[in-house]
Amino acid sequence: MKSIIIAIDGFSGCGKSTLAKAMAASLNYRHIDTGAMYRAVTLYFLDNDVDIENQNEIAAALKNITIEFKHNPETNQTDTFLNGEDREIAIRSLRVANFVSPVSTISSVRSFLVKQQQKMNDHRAIVMDGRDIGTVVFPDAELKIFMVANDEIRIQRRLEEIQLKGQLGNYDEVAHNLKSRDLIDSTRLDSPLRKADDAIEIDNSMLTREEQFNMVYLLAMEKINEKSNLESI
Ligand code: DC
Repeated sequence: MKSIIIAIDGFSGCGKSTLAKAMAASLNYRHIDTGAMYRAVTLYFLDNDVDIENQNEIAAALKNITIEFKHNPETNQTDTFLNGEDREIAIRSLRVANFVSPVSTISSVRSFLVKQQQKMNDHRAIVMDGRDIGTVVFPDAELKIFMVANDEIRIQRRLEEIQLKGQLGNYDEVAHNLKSRDLIDSTRLDSPLRKADDAIEIDNSMLTREEQFNMVYLLAMEKINEKSNLESI
């Protein structure tokens, strides 16, 4: 069986990471949540008072940032490590969520992270989710999914995610945060969120997790078979 790259992009709170995680587990592929990487950089900037208007400060800060993903045996989840420390809970806070979109507009931050993301692909066999995976990070991905969902459902999902991480989430705050991030993420100059021409759009507002998973799993198997047949000729 040949391996493929699966790129999952879309707005905040559409369930990209949940789907990506399930797909990666069932195909035995690696899952990378690129939003976690932007969040880790943002946390570092906040903790170290990095002035995001100052390119020299940003460049110096990026030199001090190492991001890793490691399995947490207690939760059976993958945690994000910033400079050797598990910061999974901190990167999911509203403090970080409120600052991550402006940080993600900075070109030097994007190229720093995109280079690392591209290096994670040794033998394809990867499911990566984010905003620019199908357009910038892996424009040659065999399967590109662009996820959308209605606002109300996205707000509820984000609230659940925040509560699952043991934090308090306020409806209005989460709603405001999602709306302002949508706007910044889709209008920024460098790699704005947009559907790649060859991406398949899935609106999962009315789909259960299983229905959505089955749909994408079938698409992935089609692509894997196509590639395996082509390369065996
Ligand atoms: O997926 P998320 O909500 O955790 O992502 C947090 C922010 O990171 C999002 O608002 C925009 C940014 N981001 C990005 O610009 N490019 C990506 N590939 C992933 C996330």
